[in-house]
Amino acid sequence: MAIIAIASTKGGVGKTSIAFSLAKDLDYRYITNDMSVVLNKYKKARYYPKKIPLYENTVYDFGGFVDNHADEIMNKADIILLPTTNDLNSIMKSQILIKTFKHKTILVFANMIENKKDYETIKTEIHRYFPELAFTHMRRTKLLKNALEAGKSATELFESSKQTQYVYRHAFEEYTKILSLFKQ
Ligand SMILES: Nc1ncnc2c1ncn2[C@@H]1O[C@H](COP(=O)(O)OP(=O)(O)OP(=O)(O)O)[C@@H](O)[C@H]1O
Ligand SMILES: [Mg+2]
Repeated sequence: MAIIAIASTKGGVGKTSIAFSLAKDLDYRYITNDMSVVLNKYKKARYYPKKIPLYENTVYDFGGFVDNHADEIMNKADIILLPTTNDLNSIMKSQILIKTFKHKTILVFANMIENKKDYETIKTEIHRYFPELAFTHMRRTKLLKNALEAGKSATELFESSKQTQYVYRHAFEEYTKILSLFKQ
């Protein structure tokens, strides 16, 4: 999988966190149209506020605002990863994005899941209009936050000690599933 666009017009759903980790684990470029701390943490990270270049082997982290250049890249991406939380605004904005890019391969990323109901709610609401869409998920965890702060991918942080392997074992298993989808 070569061009991964991570997008959602809802802020704070986890775009930057997952984008950085996936880019680092895949050894891909990270490109964003939105200032992010990743620029200070990853040598393959670049910021393009205006025209965004199209590259293979790249994770694009698109800010939660409308940007025609971002739309162009999303239309060329192999896959759009759409982080969505169990929040009415987040779900509604995801439905709109899915409708806009309905011709594309979209993977809904149910993020910050605290219990079964969170996941079921997101899935039910999205599948109500788009029953074919694929899902992946991650629990509420500090794995991505602590990884980004340390400038490490989720895998690097998980593997850094016996303690981190224990603390993040469930979240890492979920993360690994997501990562493996892009390694195919
Ligand atoms: N699975 C998770 N569990 C708990 N917290 C998470 C999870 N994923 C991301 N977060 C946290 O949620 C916050 C927002 O994440 P992030 O900045 O990645 O979102 P974003 O969609 O890029 O936001 P923005 O639209 O502002 O760019 C951060 O503090 C991040 O650490
Ligand atoms: Mg962000």
